[in-house]
Amino acid sequence: MSKFCELRFLKPIFPPKSRWSIEKDMPDMLGKVVVITGGNSGIGYEIVRILAYKNARVYFASRNLEKSLKAAEKIRMATGNDNVLAYELDLSEISSIRSFVKIIKNRETNLHLLINNAGLIVTDQNLQFNSKGEELTWASNVLGPFFLTKLLLPLMLATHELDERAGRPRVIWISSSDHRLSVEGGINFEDIAMTDKLTSTVDPRYVQSKAANILQAKALAAIYPKKIISHAVHPGSINTGLFETIPKIEKLLHKPRQQPCYKGVLTPLYAATSSEAATMNGAYFVPGTRVGECRKDLSEPANAKKLWSFLEKRMECIDGSR
Ligand SMILES: NC(=O)c1ccc[n+]([C@@H]2O[C@H](COP(=O)([O-])OP(=O)(O)OC[C@H]3O[C@@H](n4cnc5c(N)ncnc54)[C@H](OP(=O)(O)O)[C@@H]3O)[C@@H](O)[C@H]2O)c1
Repeated sequence: MSKFCELRFLKPIFPPKSRWSIEKDMPDMLGKVVVITGGNSGIGYEIVRILAYKNARVYFASRNLEKSLKAAEKIRMATGNDNVLAYELDLSEISSIRSFVKIIKNRETNLHLLINNAGLIVTDQNLQFNSKGEELTWASNVLGPFFLTKLLLPLMLATHELDERAGRPRVIWISSSDHRLSVEGGINFEDIAMTDKLTSTVDPRYVQSKAANILQAKALAAIYPKKIISHAVHPGSINTGLFETIPKIEKLLHKPRQQPCYKGVLTPLYAATSSEAATMNGAYFVPGTRVGECRKDLSEPANAKKLWSFLEKRMECIDGSR
């Protein structure tokens, strides 16, 4: 590779060619049960499509059920895999997460893979909150995936106990290189909603949520080092609807380095299914199926632990007020 491409800052834009390929190296997923959030558009849709081709039973869920049902039908038709099922889920509301988990638990006794993919950027200049008073970005991108993971963990742990030879179940947290723009330690615990940063150009709540996803991956890996594999992934700069609502000028800046959607699935699927990724735990993968370096402070186990117990307390509090 030329010196030019070796330059660190260019790697995310022009990632080196991956040695791992979906066609040649991704294992068949027959008999594997997968839950993925999002899935009716963008990176999630492409991941569902590939998992369906590889014969997995895939449950995906997001807020727009009509769009999800259409996406599921399209994928079933294209792949011939009838086990692609779409449900309604709003990650910003715990009641919605509970209903979705109930469906999964009623239908399945195994869960091999959970991909926390769904995410949003709230670009409204006014802060938005869920019914429990949580800021919407935090509720959707951090708290919601945490609740979902906690509620599905018993199923994943049971899956591992029943059949250890099938390998450890995996949880994948779709993060972003934008985590680098977050505050020291990743999280502004004193003011999660960042009420004083409403006019910033780079959305501080989104970058904080993506830092949180890395900490969540590391915390879970540290809690269950031998039972669960938990990785964070930056999928690359990908042309999806995620940036639909950001200011035009920012969108123009993003455009030249964005890659087509199908390119955003390689690294998430590598982290989720490759035997190589199973030899690590709590890694942060970057485009080209490489182990990346997240910002140093986010690798501090204390920071991951702090966030995890903060979220646990919040969960207890919300449960207590039911
Ligand atoms: N695109 C990139 O360049 C890029 C770069 C780094 C990281 N990422 C990450 O990649 C992930 C996927 O994003 P994308 O780029 O594929 O964007 P996208 O096309 O906008 O997909 C986002 C998905 O999340 C769902 N979703 C959003 N809020 C939700 C909620 N509260 N509850 C349930 N589902 C919700 C959306 O469906 P509904 O609207 O129907 O709910 C949609 O299916 C995100 O976590 C994002 O942060 C993307």
